[in-house]
Amino acid sequence: MKLANATVLITGANRGLGLAFAREALARGARKVYAAARDPSSVTLPGVVPIRLDVTKPDDIAAAARDYPDVTLLINNAGIAELGGFLSDTSVQSAQRHFDTNVVGPMRLTQAFAPVLAAHDGGAILNVLSVASWINGPMLGVYGMSKSAAWAMTNGTRIELHDQHTQVLALHVGFIDTDLTRGLDVPKLAPDDVVRTALDALEAGASEVLADELTRRVHAGLSAQPAVYLQAQDR
Ligand SMILES: NC(=O)c1ccc[n+]([C@@H]2O[C@H](COP(=O)([O-])OP(=O)(O)OC[C@H]3O[C@@H](n4cnc5c(N)ncnc54)[C@H](OP(=O)(O)O)[C@@H]3O)[C@@H](O)[C@H]2O)c1
Repeated sequence: MKLANATVLITGANRGLGLAFAREALARGARKVYAAARDPSSVTLPGVVPIRLDVTKPDDIAAAARDYPDVTLLINNAGIAELGGFLSDTSVQSAQRHFDTNVVGPMRLTQAFAPVLAAHDGGAILNVLSVASWINGPMLGVYGMSKSAAWAMTNGTRIELHDQHTQVLALHVGFIDTDLTRGLDVPKLAPDDVVRTALDALEAGASEVLADELTRRVHAGLSAQPAVYLQAQDR
């Protein structure tokens, strides 16, 4: 899928990786960029169309699919990450919040926009996943569970959307320098670099892109002996 003349809807486009996607989509010649945010007044990038969309609100999603039938590329970017594993008193509530935002939100958006994309020769969906789809540890355990589920959803919807020729691209990536990782003392990627890698892969017709060395190493380790996810992770 080419960005030139595409009509793009990006969730969580007011800051972080979503803002970088919006900027790069415009730079690559997108016809229109709908910059979706819980608070559209927080969208300040010139050249985009701010729209209100909380991915946990089914009515917002239905309204977006109804009101923006010209969308050819959906970027499921909005996400949350709360620190913590599975055994604390607050883990279940945290898991529900992660699932609502990181899994069920993109799933509802995929359902709502599938017919819209079908009407434009299939179009494309880019789902922002994580290296945490494949490894888990106490620091980001619940977050990782939600990204594993979102990876499964991505793979399943790719198959279901195959016949309508919708390209479904999974972006797997390690730590990026955004608000989400503020306070984490780890090497971080620049959002603009991640977005360029992701959109190059999209334009090349890929189904999956591993955006950094950490992610490529973990992916290779899935079939190592012992597998990478059996080793203790400090994050
Ligand atoms: N940063 C990393 O290291 C990293 C690594 C791998 C994957 N990712 C993924 O990359 C994506 C973007 O993250 P980021 O790093 O850019 O984080 P960020 O700077 O914290 O931005 C998160 C974005 O998601 C939006 N959002 C959260 N809940 C939402 C909801 N219910 N409805 C609509 N928008 C909502 C936020 O909107 P508000 O401004 O309204 O809060 C914000 O625009 C996420 O899916 C994240 O899991 C990040």
